[in-house]
Amino acid sequence: MSKDFIIAGIDIGTSNTRTVIAQQIKGEENPRVIGVGVVPSVGIRRGVITNVDDIAKTVIEAVESAERMAGFPIKSAIFNIGGCDIEFANSKGVIAIGRADGEVSDDDINRVIAESQMIQLPMNKEIVHVIAKKYRLDDQDNIKDPSGMKGVRLEVDALVIESSSAQVKNIGKAAFQAGVEINDLVLEPLAAAVSVLTKKQKELGVVMINIGGGTTSLAVYEEGELLHTAILPLGGGHVTNDIAIGLRTSVEVAEQIKLEYGSAMAGDIDKKDGIDLSLIDSREEGVVSRHHVAEIIEARLEEIFSLVQKELKLIGKAGLLPAGGVLVGGGAKMTHINELAKDVLGLPIQVGFPVGFGGILDKVDDPSFATASGLVLWAGQHQLEEKREGMKPFNPFAGKTDGMVDVVKNVFKRFLP
Ligand SMILES: Nc1ncnc2c1ncn2[C@@H]1O[C@H](COP(=O)(O)OP(=O)(O)OP(=O)(O)O)[C@@H](O)[C@H]1O
Ligand SMILES: [Mg+2]
Repeated sequence: MSKDFIIAGIDIGTSNTRTVIAQQIKGEENPRVIGVGVVPSVGIRRGVITNVDDIAKTVIEAVESAERMAGFPIKSAIFNIGGCDIEFANSKGVIAIGRADGEVSDDDINRVIAESQMIQLPMNKEIVHVIAKKYRLDDQDNIKDPSGMKGVRLEVDALVIESSSAQVKNIGKAAFQAGVEINDLVLEPLAAAVSVLTKKQKELGVVMINIGGGTTSLAVYEEGELLHTAILPLGGGHVTNDIAIGLRTSVEVAEQIKLEYGSAMAGDIDKKDGIDLSLIDSREEGVVSRHHVAEIIEARLEEIFSLVQKELKLIGKAGLLPAGGVLVGGGAKMTHINELAKDVLGLPIQVGFPVGFGGILDKVDDPSFATASGLVLWAGQHQLEEKREGMKPFNPFAGKTDGMVDVVKNVFKRFLP
């Protein structure tokens, strides 16, 4: 890092919107957290923005809260992009090496990846990421990083991740209304993985599972590379709704029951244990079985993990990831969730906490901060500093990590409403 700079991440979630402001100090490895804000989200369903004005207000509140803690305003941030309408396409790029001596330069790598983006996009889709999976240089295949090698023809196999244009536009409009410029958009599971997975876990084989309010997203890594990612349309909100329906209570009471008395393993709860509803809300009456509540929670979470298992089967990795599963998101805080996940997935499971920070660490030391923290770390890794006077324009190909390169995009133009 050449100088100190400020980086900010804004995670617009179905249940909560979180802002993390951090300072990257020259000579220090980890950014210092200096401001954190979290507010309940309005105007978003299953990760998809449904009301731009409401989500803009939510973003303003979350940003202002973090700014108050940091002691100064931010002008720009990295945002997450979630929602269940993410699509994937495999693509190829081919170029001739530019230098006369045939040595592969960063420019060649950028060009071949840019080539791989020249695909027929489905209607109303936009490219969010292009991930280089492997390169081929003349006859040599399966190259992870061709820079410095010599050849004539460079090819890349890439994974293109697309989101709906409406979602991209709506994030842009909300950010514009909130007065925060967008430095970049990062797919939620990729951001969350940055803050909780170690290099070793990614090398061995691991699945990061982010259980949010309206979605569950996952990212699978092996040999240091992203193998698969998906966003499923179920989350902790569905667990709460099931409890509300099952007990005939309001959603608010159901949420409180879940948080205070919930468990993902019904077998561990004494069948005689009761919950006095009047203690939660004076308008409610009667006693409900804690065991029954746990049964409802277990059933829905089991469904969520079964869907994750289906994704792992799809790529031939079910039960075959030595570093197991790492659970994050607010939903990962459910009591005994790791035991349930272990039973369904047949993998060792742990709950993940963001790592790689200094400063007021305790504010982000929570599985539900995985995405917001990951956005900040991503910004640091890609040198996407918060925009200040005289800052150099953002080079989307600077500082690539894990074979991942962000798409060229005219951020400023595209995000103007
Ligand atoms: N201690 C807890 N035990 C169980 N569930 C919890 C706990 N704390 C929060 N949750 C659940 O976590 C969910 C919210 O998680 P999170 O804040 O990560 O979601 P989000 O990022 O807003 O949503 P998404 O990622 O789906 O867009 C809610 O369903 C909430 O009930
Ligand atoms: Mg989330």
